[in-house]
Amino acid sequence: MLSLRNFTIFFGLLVVFHNVAGADFDPLHHSGAASPYFDAPAAAGVPLELPDGCVVDQAAWFVRHGSRYPEPGSFTGWEALFSKFQNATYIARGPLSFIPSWNLPVDNEPHQPLFLSSTGAGEAFALGVELRKRYGLTKGGDNITVWTAGQQRVVDTATYFARGYLSAGNYLDDPSSNRGTLVVLVDSATNTTFADSLTPSSSCPAYGVFGGNGSTTSDAFRATFRPAIADRLNKFLDGLVLDANDIGVMQDLCGFGFEVSGEHRFCDAFTENEWLDYEYAHDLNYYYGSGPGNPLSATVGHPWVKAISDIFAVGPGNAIQNGTLIPPPLIMGFTHDNNVPPLISALGLWNSSKSFPLPITKLESNRQFRSSNLVSFLGNVALERMTCDQVFVRVLANNAVIPIPECQSGPGASCPLEMFTEYVNGERKRASGDFVERCGLEGVEGAVSNVMFLTTVGDGDSVLVGLD
Ligand SMILES: *[C@@H]1O[C@H](CO)[C@@H](O)[C@H](O)[C@H]1NC(C)=O
Ligand SMILES: *[C@@H]1O[C@H](CO)[C@@H](O)[C@H](O)[C@H]1NC(C)=O
Ligand SMILES: *[C@@H]1O[C@H](CO)[C@@H](O)[C@H](O)[C@H]1NC(C)=O
Ligand SMILES: *[C@@H]1O[C@H](CO)[C@@H](O)[C@H](O)[C@H]1NC(C)=O
Ligand SMILES: *[C@@H]1O[C@H](CO)[C@@H](O)[C@H](O)[C@H]1NC(C)=O
Ligand SMILES: *[C@@H]1O[C@H](CO)[C@@H](O)[C@H](O)[C@H]1NC(C)=O
Repeated sequence: MLSLRNFTIFFGLLVVFHNVAGADFDPLHHSGAASPYFDAPAAAGVPLELPDGCVVDQAAWFVRHGSRYPEPGSFTGWEALFSKFQNATYIARGPLSFIPSWNLPVDNEPHQPLFLSSTGAGEAFALGVELRKRYGLTKGGDNITVWTAGQQRVVDTATYFARGYLSAGNYLDDPSSNRGTLVVLVDSATNTTFADSLTPSSSCPAYGVFGGNGSTTSDAFRATFRPAIADRLNKFLDGLVLDANDIGVMQDLCGFGFEVSGEHRFCDAFTENEWLDYEYAHDLNYYYGSGPGNPLSATVGHPWVKAISDIFAVGPGNAIQNGTLIPPPLIMGFTHDNNVPPLISALGLWNSSKSFPLPITKLESNRQFRSSNLVSFLGNVALERMTCDQVFVRVLANNAVIPIPECQSGPGASCPLEMFTEYVNGERKRASGDFVERCGLEGVEGAVSNVMFLTTVGDGDSVLVGLD
């Protein structure tokens, strides 16, 4: 896989070798949370195609918002780099020869940073199209309800998803058909909806205490590789010196520059190993911040997994005990990056001896936990209820099947439904604990440990998505 193209540049007596990443290596698939959406490679050799004789009759997707402009704080870093490139008098060669003419890909600052980009809108629309065709769970004219956290970029993602899903036929003169409803839930508010949320980590006080390890571990790892990259690239510059911080911004500008404006030149400036180090820093950030390395991760992920397990147990078209709403066959929840890894923890995935705990000082190339394959833009964890000769459940992340280590006796390494229910309510419940108790919320008024909004009418504000 590793192929290096060597460029030799003669400058006086100095000979510099510049090894760019090989043609079969895509930095956009190794940019962690800055990666535009892509399907993850098949894990454990299990194909995405359904096993013969099986159909999905119900599915639940938990999805990060689509590609977006930078957060305002990161944008400040882009601006500082741009000023540095513009204000110096220097000569740039080889992979950096483009930087004097490079422009910021943000041209309407009050309205772009923080919000969805057109790439993000396209990703969400495409997912709507894909899931309608793939599952065939909705017949012409049927409405769809989706759930979303309330921040604008998440609501926009849910809206574009619904538009893609509903874009079939002409129902303009039939307003009771083919309509989408968004149920908008409070986003990341402290101590409001607790576990009954698409952003439950914000209502778990103990979670934040351990979540601090994400940035400390990833920053420490970044400090081990960025200076050497700066040294390598500074050989292509006369009159300008890049520092470790500039390298961080430039690597971020691969994923972000590409999804915002199609810019690929930052992607081309770094070697394959430099991308793998960059990706591993993202992995440490998510593993110790919101994934299995945070001991409260499974606790905040369990309520969604438990709610879906209860819904799958009764099957499509049926209400769960005490439920006042019959959930749709396709259940969609839209949220933020940090709320996706807790589902992996709650399901007990990507936690083999090679992955636990993820080494902090040295890249573990055999790890299962890869942020690019989970929290890319539109990154997701899906559960599918699969009916064959009997009923099974399988788990996907970014469209790659992830077998549950303790339960994979079904077709395509799936888990028989009754065993899945037992696993979620037994072993995984014990590992996850009770939300109120573990989060330190006992005695707090209104604190709840379950997701109820999928099966209870009245939670959240409804917004209608029409196509007229
Ligand atoms: C160059 O530096 C000056 C003074 O610090 C600043 O006002 C100006 O905006 C910079 N130019 C660019 C293009 O950033
Ligand atoms: C579909 O949604 C529309 C708009 O909310 C509503 O008027 C209509 O009753 C719904 N149709 C069905 C079949 O639920
Ligand atoms: C949230 O609740 C916890 C536990 O009662 C409390 O310690 C914390 O101060 C509350 N936070 C806010 C912002 O109200
Ligand atoms: C994470 O933080 C906790 C609490 O501060 C600490 O006890 C633990 O050792 C840290 N773990 C790592 C891997 O840094
Ligand atoms: C359903 O409601 C009944 C009566 O309030 C209660 O005893 C039971 O525990 C509830 N079941 C569930 C699964 O919440
Ligand atoms: C991951 O595995 C370790 C070691 O077996 C265990 O201590 C930890 O609780 C597991 N994490 C999760 C989220 O299940």
